[in-house]
Amino acid sequence: MQTTMTSLLTADSPTVMTQTTPHLCIEAVTKCFGSFTALDNISLTIKEGEFVCFLGPSGCGKTTLLRTIAGLARQTSGTLNQRGNDISTLPPQARDFGIVFQSYALFPNLTVFNNVAYGLRNRRVDRARINARVAELLALVNLSGSEQKYPAALSGGQQQRVALARALATEPGLLLLDEPLSALDARVRGHLRSQIKALQARLGVTTIMVTHDQEEALTMADRIVVMNHGVIEQVGTPAEIYHQPASAFVASFIGTMNFLDVAVHSAEQVTLAAVRLTCLPHCLPVGGAARLAVRPEAVALTRQVGGLAGEVTDIEFLGAFQRVTLQLAGANQTLLADVPSRDSTTLGLHMGQTLGIHLPAEAARLYPAGSNTL
Ligand SMILES: Nc1ncnc2c1ncn2[C@@H]1O[C@H](COP(=O)(O)OP(=O)(O)O)[C@@H](O)[C@H]1O
Ligand SMILES: [Mg+2]
Repeated sequence: MQTTMTSLLTADSPTVMTQTTPHLCIEAVTKCFGSFTALDNISLTIKEGEFVCFLGPSGCGKTTLLRTIAGLARQTSGTLNQRGNDISTLPPQARDFGIVFQSYALFPNLTVFNNVAYGLRNRRVDRARINARVAELLALVNLSGSEQKYPAALSGGQQQRVALARALATEPGLLLLDEPLSALDARVRGHLRSQIKALQARLGVTTIMVTHDQEEALTMADRIVVMNHGVIEQVGTPAEIYHQPASAFVASFIGTMNFLDVAVHSAEQVTLAAVRLTCLPHCLPVGGAARLAVRPEAVALTRQVGGLAGEVTDIEFLGAFQRVTLQLAGANQTLLADVPSRDSTTLGLHMGQTLGIHLPAEAARLYPAGSNTL
């Protein structure tokens, strides 16, 4: 259900929209800068009220896609449709969005009040209503009382909260955030992350946030769009992206991942260090090479050495667990395994120790040999 800004202010009955109604449909959008293709045939549907993150390494096209949605950049081909209206050729001022940029793009010569009121004045909203709306918005971002301050007198985090209030002032259907937290220090960033998330949930405004920070995307997004070199690698919930990465790139970009070179033995078995391992059914050619991906926390270590084994070459203490580096016996490959602190006592974990290694089939994913990783 969506609660609009209006309903917060005037207690109108809120517009009811479900998360399955499409808000924005991007179809086959390509954007070229000269001979360089920054966006390559992007298709994506964003649902009403959803919080979507565009996640990917620097230069993959996240900002270009956001700017195309806003009309600040024009796609070379493809169409955009917002709530059933073709917006493909509309100028930014005719589109329905509010935007927050990475660097504080507040008007330095205007007070906080006037920054937030800016879009409302442009729309000739009457003064009493502007006063009420600005007060409401500043309360929403916990900045009541800062009306007469100038941006220079505010911290980075406060400036971004003003920018957020300004972006929301005209009740846009779509909130666009381009790395809004990345210029802030870690503590402020973490705090503002939960504030933005709570605010978005409360208002129900469809939101797209660009970030290169996987933790930010995993903690904030309903769905993550992982991008690389102008294409979408995967769209999914944080859990899907983390547990079922669709490509070796996604597997390498999110979290920590071991990649092991294996030989494909059958449709459900691979060979690693002369040991036969069961894996989930796959379609890679039998007899060929492949990359087996498994997260350190999924690796189980035992004192019984049977099949796959390795020697402990490093132990890193990380509080709740220890990250162990193992040199695989019979292969020139290393493996990271996260051992919960209580298990390390049971294992008698120490450097130089040889341990049995179990790679659970359901936690291991197979990708073609030579797949691109980060
Ligand atoms: N105006 C432009 N002219 C030429 N190349 C551009 C322009 N804007 C972006 N690019 C290029 O497009 C690619 C994607 O840029 P961008 O969308 O800003 O990436 P991201 O936001 O993911 O870091 C980059 O290689 C960048 O250099
Ligand atoms: Mg960018």
